[in-house]
Amino acid sequence: MSLLAIRDVTRRFGGLTAVDGVSFDVYEGSIKAVIGPNGAGKSTLFNLITGFDRADEGVVMFDGERLTGKRPDAIVRLGVARTFQNTRLFEEMSALDNVRVGCDLEVPRGFFRSALRLGVRSGEAAMRQRAHHLLRVVGLEERAEVPASDLPHGTRRLLEIARALATRPRLMLLDEPAAGLNGAETRTLIEALYRIRDDGVTLVVVEHDMGLVMEVAEEIVVLDRGAKIAEGPPLLIQKDPVVIEAYLGEECEPGGC
Ligand SMILES: Nc1ncnc2c1ncn2[C@@H]1O[C@H](COP(=O)(O)OP(=O)(O)OP(=O)(O)O)[C@@H](O)[C@H]1O
Ligand SMILES: [Mg+2]
Repeated sequence: MSLLAIRDVTRRFGGLTAVDGVSFDVYEGSIKAVIGPNGAGKSTLFNLITGFDRADEGVVMFDGERLTGKRPDAIVRLGVARTFQNTRLFEEMSALDNVRVGCDLEVPRGFFRSALRLGVRSGEAAMRQRAHHLLRVVGLEERAEVPASDLPHGTRRLLEIARALATRPRLMLLDEPAAGLNGAETRTLIEALYRIRDDGVTLVVVEHDMGLVMEVAEEIVVLDRGAKIAEGPPLLIQKDPVVIEAYLGEECEPGGC
């Protein structure tokens, strides 16, 4: 069933239509990619889904509930997490503490416990254990005590994914998770994405790394100048002349990019 439904969403900045009447569905348990040239509207679309920006037209529904008009924190509590194109970490905190901050955002399940002032210690211990687990999911367990500012660029993106996971999302939106990652880090990322999906989290990934996209995505949406120009499985998208013309170019031959 459709977990996320985007319907006729439009966002204008002055004379520029950054997102132009975009509609698509994301099905529970799937990995969907959103691709397209620079400035196509991918990050703006993520902002509209997650409440960081407001659509001029259209609606976004998550599990039958309207996200449009809600604030980012309310959307996180409904089970939608995201990462940013430019990582946003607490630089002086350790990797582990960055993930624990994410655990704190998990408001509904923690509410009664803290209201009754019960189990605070065991709650903290459980949170620490969970944060370690999430670092393991993204292959960063060895770096738990390292301050975020000391982590290499690629590793920072993985840490941001662990922090987003700490909010226990049902849907996670990743904006260019492979940007700046080397081959080994990209492999770790791909394995983490499968683990996360197998754990029941639905994923939407904006990415320019076509190797990653074609490998992990079950379905791809292609945006160009704000509009959706194609949608379908990787094998069809790779061969679509409209997509090749707008984005993939000549170097992306059928069978691989
Ligand atoms: N706050 C804003 N004010 C004005 N214009 C904006 C704003 N945010 C985005 N834009 C414009 O909207 C268009 C879409 O931008 P967006 O960042 O969504 O593209 P993108 O597909 O994420 O590109 P990239 O692959 O480079 O990250 C661009 O032309 C951008 O300059
Ligand atoms: Mg972007």
